[in-house]
Amino acid sequence: MNVSSPERPYAIACDRNRDPILAILRECLPAKGRVLEIGSGTGQHAAYFSNAFPHLEWLPSDLPQNLEGISLWRQEAGPNCLAPAGLDLLSDALQLPPADAIVCINTLHIVAWQGTHRLFTAAGKTLSPGQAIYLYGPYRYADRPLEPSNEQFDQWLKERDPASGIRNFEDLSRIAQEQGFALETDLPMPANNRSLIFRRAP
Ligand SMILES: C[S@@+](CC[C@H](N)C(=O)[O-])C[C@H]1O[C@@H](n2cnc3c(N)ncnc32)[C@H](O)[C@@H]1O
Repeated sequence: MNVSSPERPYAIACDRNRDPILAILRECLPAKGRVLEIGSGTGQHAAYFSNAFPHLEWLPSDLPQNLEGISLWRQEAGPNCLAPAGLDLLSDALQLPPADAIVCINTLHIVAWQGTHRLFTAAGKTLSPGQAIYLYGPYRYADRPLEPSNEQFDQWLKERDPASGIRNFEDLSRIAQEQGFALETDLPMPANNRSLIFRRAP
């Protein structure tokens, strides 16, 4: 899966982060049911994780323009990888498809901040008590400076799109809490990223 056919989208970061992420997902995903992946990007993670979790249905999603590329990766995915769904976190009428867990990797710093609000609001309606949202990416913490590599990344993001940017962990946690999610895990990951798990409170 490290070699992509010419027409298939490919991001080297997915090959680098998939195993550290997999180790955390093994701890937090349910034994059965459907995982909704938001911002699936190339589709590489969907292919890899669907193979790693044959007992789960894996539903990739992204903006409509990315669905064709994600579909190409389904050739490498398990039969439990569903056709990708169009999903725009900035949609006024955001409704998530039924799911038992949500995975969102390296996406909340790309989408305008309102997307994070909408994600947690919609997830609060879709997930049941005890079910989890897994987030992966860089975050800014009030009690320590952003790592130099993430400071540069944040500047690069904002030059590209002023609505993008590394999110404040405390703001994210507050929004999650307002929608009934409690922080369960906050773990350091390679390249100054974090794994955050928010679980819907009973
Ligand atoms: C940096 S990429 C991460 C992709 C993939 N999760 C990964 O780790 O390689 C950010 C993703 O967010 C998606 N995205 C951007 N705006 C979005 C929106 N409004 N709603 C949902 N996804 C969005 C992009 O299409 C892209 O796939």
